[in-house]
Amino acid sequence: MLPIILSTTQDDHQTLTITSDPSEVSLQGRIRVPGDKSISHRALMLGAIAQGTTVIEGLLLGADPRSTARCFTQMGAQISTLNAERVEIQGIGLGQLQEPVDLLDVGNSGTTLRLMLGLLAAHSERFFAITGDDSIRRRPMGRVVQPLQQMGAQIWGRQAGTLAPLAVQGQPLQPIHYHSPIASAQVKSCILLAGLNIAGPTTVTEPALSRDHSERMLQAFGAKLTCNPETHSVTVTGPTQLRGQTVIVPGDISSAAFWLVAGAIIPGSDLVIENVGVNPTRIGVLEALEMMGADIQRQQEREVAGEPVADLRVRYGALQACTMAGDLIPRLIDEIPILAVAAALAQGTTVIRDAAELRVKESDRIQVMATELTKLGARITELPDGLEITGGSPLHGTAVDSYTDHRIAMSLAIAAIAAQGTTTIHRAEAASVSYPEFVETLQTLGATSR
Ligand code: S3P
Repeated sequence: MLPIILSTTQDDHQTLTITSDPSEVSLQGRIRVPGDKSISHRALMLGAIAQGTTVIEGLLLGADPRSTARCFTQMGAQISTLNAERVEIQGIGLGQLQEPVDLLDVGNSGTTLRLMLGLLAAHSERFFAITGDDSIRRRPMGRVVQPLQQMGAQIWGRQAGTLAPLAVQGQPLQPIHYHSPIASAQVKSCILLAGLNIAGPTTVTEPALSRDHSERMLQAFGAKLTCNPETHSVTVTGPTQLRGQTVIVPGDISSAAFWLVAGAIIPGSDLVIENVGVNPTRIGVLEALEMMGADIQRQQEREVAGEPVADLRVRYGALQACTMAGDLIPRLIDEIPILAVAAALAQGTTVIRDAAELRVKESDRIQVMATELTKLGARITELPDGLEITGGSPLHGTAVDSYTDHRIAMSLAIAAIAAQGTTTIHRAEAASVSYPEFVETLQTLGATSR
C-alpha cells in the first residue's frame, strides 16, 4: 500500500503527498497512458486547416491541446467537444483562418504558439495577437520569429520580437532554406507550416533529427513533402491544399517514461504500459534506460495510422550510470527530468550533456531538477548544459515544488515512491498539462502495490 493524497491549498494550488517505504512497495499491473501531446496538437492544427472532415481518436485531453483547440476555434475551425474517443473537425481550408476578434491565449503550450505562428504569419491581411501564461511569456520566441521574418513575416513582440505577447500582421511570404542552429521540432514545424501557404519549396535543415510527427502527418494529409534523413532536411512545396484524415493518436512515450522509470527503480515491480508510440525520433528514453541495464521489452510492435506503436513491459533491475549526449538528446529531451530520477537510483555517475535546451522549457529543468532532487537526498550537480548525478544515496521524503512544470511534478512524484518517508509536491496540478490522469493512475498502482 502506498498512501497518496491530493489536497487543495489556500492559494488554490494542489499538493500531492506520497508516503513510501520503498522496501515495502512494488508496482504491478497493466496501464495505459493518454494520447501523445505532440501528435494531438498537430492533428488539431492540420484538421483545422484541411479541407473536409478530420477525425481524431485518442486525443490527449490535457490543458495544452485544449489551448490549441480553443485558438483554432476562435479562428473559425469547427471542432466537436473534446473527448478521447472521437473528435471531429470541419476544416476550413488552406489560408482560410479567420482573424480572431480577441487575443489568442496558448496557456502553457510552447508547441501551440510556435507551430501556430508559422501558419498565421502566412495569412495575408489578417492580424493576430498571441499571449500565454507566465512561463510562456518567458520562453524564447526569436527562434521562430527570426526565420519567419527572413521569409517576410511581420511580427512584433516584447524584447525585439523575442518574447510573447506577439502581434502578427499576415503577409504573403517567400520560400527560404533555413539552417536551424538547434534541433527543434517546433522550429522545423513552424517553418514547414508557413511553407504550406508559400509558392515554391521551403526547406529546413537541422543539426540533428528532431521528432518527425509533422512530416508524417503532413504527408498523410496530402502535403508535397520530401525528407532527407541523411542531411536532416525537409522540404515542403506549396501551396498545398490538405485533405481531412483520420488520426489515431498513440499513447505518449513522454508520459509512459514516468512508469518506465518507476518500474525500473522500485524493487519487485513489473508493469506493462499498453499502446505507446515508439517513433524512432522519440525513443531516446528506451535507449538510455537500456544503456543503464533496465529490463524493458517491446511487445506487439505494430504501425497505427503512420506511427509505430508497442506495449512496453518493464521489470525492476539494478541500474548502472550512463552518459547521455549528442544526437541522443533530441530523442529524449522531454524525458531528462525523469531520467535524472533513474540516475539518482543507479550505481555510478551519470552525465547528461548537450542539453542546454532544458533551461528554456516550461521551467529551467536543469536548475529545478538539481535543486529539488538535492532536497530529496540525491547527489546532483548542475552543468551549463546538463547534469551530473551520482547515484546510490538513499532518498528521503521532504517538501518539493513543481515550479508549475508538468514534467517536474511527475518526475518528483516517482522520486517520492523511491524515497523513504513522506514527500509533499507543491503545485502538483501542473501534471494536467500533459497527463490529467497521472495522480489517478498513481493511486491505482499505489493501492495495489505490494
Ligand atoms: C515538441 C518539441 C520539443 C518538445 C516539446 C514538444 C513538439 O520542443 O520539447 O515538448 O511537439 O514539437 P523543441 O522543438 O523546442 O525541442
